[in-house]
Amino acid sequence: MSQLTVFNDQAPNSALLKSTDANKIKQHLAQVGVNFEQWQTGQAITSSMAHTDILSRYQEDIARVQADGGYQTVDVIALERGNPDAAQLREKFLFEHTHNEDEVRFFVKGQGLFCLHIDDKIYQVLCQQGDLISVPANTAHWFDMGSDPEFTAIRFFNNEAGWVAQSTNSDIATQFPLLD
Ligand SMILES: [Fe+2]
Repeated sequence: MSQLTVFNDQAPNSALLKSTDANKIKQHLAQVGVNFEQWQTGQAITSSMAHTDILSRYQEDIARVQADGGYQTVDVIALERGNPDAAQLREKFLFEHTHNEDEVRFFVKGQGLFCLHIDDKIYQVLCQQGDLISVPANTAHWFDMGSDPEFTAIRFFNNEAGWVAQSTNSDIATQFPLLD
């Protein structure tokens, strides 16, 4: 179940708030400029499904999000359990970083933990199948895909080439709970 946990950034051991109510998650995140939505997922997505079929399945929602955010391109990223490079892939975004552009992800399948550092709070958002999150450009955050990642996600880009993780040189991500 999708979940939001909010911490003070100095107190990783005591959550200020925990909610699995999608409307509450949406409300809390909207207050800090983060968009969270749940889409109707309908028919199950299988591992063998072509990425073009996944994109056409959600074409109306995709078109709306693209128009709202001015996202030029979308793609699909898929990771299956048992990936031999899992540890390396996990490390790639497991430190606090920013991007020059929004990080927008829709989870078609599986899950991932977005951790957003906004003002003096940490917002940990467990995104699962059917969840869309838009992390605004220049928001400090980290992402945990877990030790044995499994997810299929649609990604939205303003400029794919500009989507580089810039470290904040903080070790804060090591102080907070991870996915497993
Ligand atoms: Fe990121």
